[in-house]
Amino acid sequence: MASLVPTVSCAISRLNLFTELSHNYCASRFLRTLSSKLRPKISMNPHKSFKSSISSLNFNSSTSNCSKTLGSNHLFNDNLIVLGIETSCDDTAAAVVRGDGEILSQVISSQAELLARYGGVAPKMAEEAHSQVIDQVVQDALDKANLTETDLSAVAVTIGPGLSLCLRVGVQKARKIAATYQLPYVGVHHMEAHALVARLCDRDLQFPFMALLISGGHNLLVLARDLGHYLQLGTTIDDAIGEAYDKTAKWLGLDLRRSGGPAIEELALLGDANSIKFSVPMKQHKDCNFSYAGLKTQVKLSIESKHIDAAIQFSSASIEDQNLRADIAASFQRVAVLHLEEKCERAIQWALEIEPSIKHLVVSGGVASNQYVRVRLHEVVARNSLQLVCPPPSLCTDNGVMIAWTGIENFRLGRFDPPPPALEPEDCQLDLRPRWPLGEEYGRGRSVARSMRTARIHPSLTSLNQASQP
Ligand code: KG4
Ligand code: ZN
Repeated sequence: MASLVPTVSCAISRLNLFTELSHNYCASRFLRTLSSKLRPKISMNPHKSFKSSISSLNFNSSTSNCSKTLGSNHLFNDNLIVLGIETSCDDTAAAVVRGDGEILSQVISSQAELLARYGGVAPKMAEEAHSQVIDQVVQDALDKANLTETDLSAVAVTIGPGLSLCLRVGVQKARKIAATYQLPYVGVHHMEAHALVARLCDRDLQFPFMALLISGGHNLLVLARDLGHYLQLGTTIDDAIGEAYDKTAKWLGLDLRRSGGPAIEELALLGDANSIKFSVPMKQHKDCNFSYAGLKTQVKLSIESKHIDAAIQFSSASIEDQNLRADIAASFQRVAVLHLEEKCERAIQWALEIEPSIKHLVVSGGVASNQYVRVRLHEVVARNSLQLVCPPPSLCTDNGVMIAWTGIENFRLGRFDPPPPALEPEDCQLDLRPRWPLGEEYGRGRSVARSMRTARIHPSLTSLNQASQP
């Protein structure tokens, strides 16, 4: 188990936007006090005593006298109960999860109608939609778990990456609850949550492991060395695979109410995957990076050349037209996934050179709920004597469980903030991280093809954790 010492300063570094608070706050003292308050009561009612001991603590302790002896397992408590809130994109989600991995409730309100109407996520409308439902979603999650806020041990929320306007809605809600009920607050990295939820599903999954994280906005191959410590082997130089699924579905006139991915997956079952010869992206690049912009263009040109009219819904199209659309969907999917397979194969080789003890490849994020993707990647890992860990589809797409669980994992290591001040003004500057890399780039993995847009990128989660280590 990792020592607490590094993570204590990390908890402090999370407070950088709340300077008066961080100035006076000594996380290690807080944890030591917490630990001593916690232990005697734990056999009676561990959860309740934990929460109440937190709320009675004084956060204005002196910054000197930091403990170097307290191990993080002092905070290991299966009876932790964490509320997770997710609003980084188009789903408003909340869940309550217990430290032993029991999912006590899970609620999602999707913006499918908006997506279908506008053919994509419009940030301002998405923000409004989140604002309209956030209170109800959180209340439903608590009700379904048969709990109230006073039963919680902490509140976790996605602080990035994602759309600022959307992140803000979840963060404000989480901070309000944490302030009102004097609960610790955990700011979660959305992509770390996609990876870590695999550890809730498979309790044998230990670090180090590899992860392929595939969603609407991200295409990441990482070596997960430890909690909060990720080496990025590859990323996309332009679009993510989910974006390519979504646009293909839109151009094929499919029903987008469940998002483009499931619509393409379903239609692809009816088509001939070898009928259209799309070329596999980035064949000449011997790295682990991805590109889906070119494949999108190939698909668009193919659709235009076949005179498919997206304005005519799939269900209203002629049989011949439907068959053409199915062939395009199947051919697109074959090549899109082949690109994943090729880059994964290389990344596994690289990862095994760096960490020969790796046994698992985690595949998570919305696109990982696709059965074809799962089958093909299963073959890749089997060829390399690894095991595939895929969370169930409901935990691959955005959800509150992964945020609550990542909150639990970080909380156990002391990576959390104290309760926000009770009178935090609504318009105060919040710690939102819309462009927030997960890991540091592996030297060999740097793409020559990538035009690096570095402006206003937050330092990676991994570098923040490393910087806070003594
Ligand atoms: O992780 P996620 O729910 O949200 C983001 O963080 O982006 O991923 C959403 C993406 C969308 O592009 C959606 O079309 C895709 O995941 N997706 C799928 C499937 N289910 C969701 N792609 C392919 N096949 C699916 N079954
Ligand atoms: Zn996601």
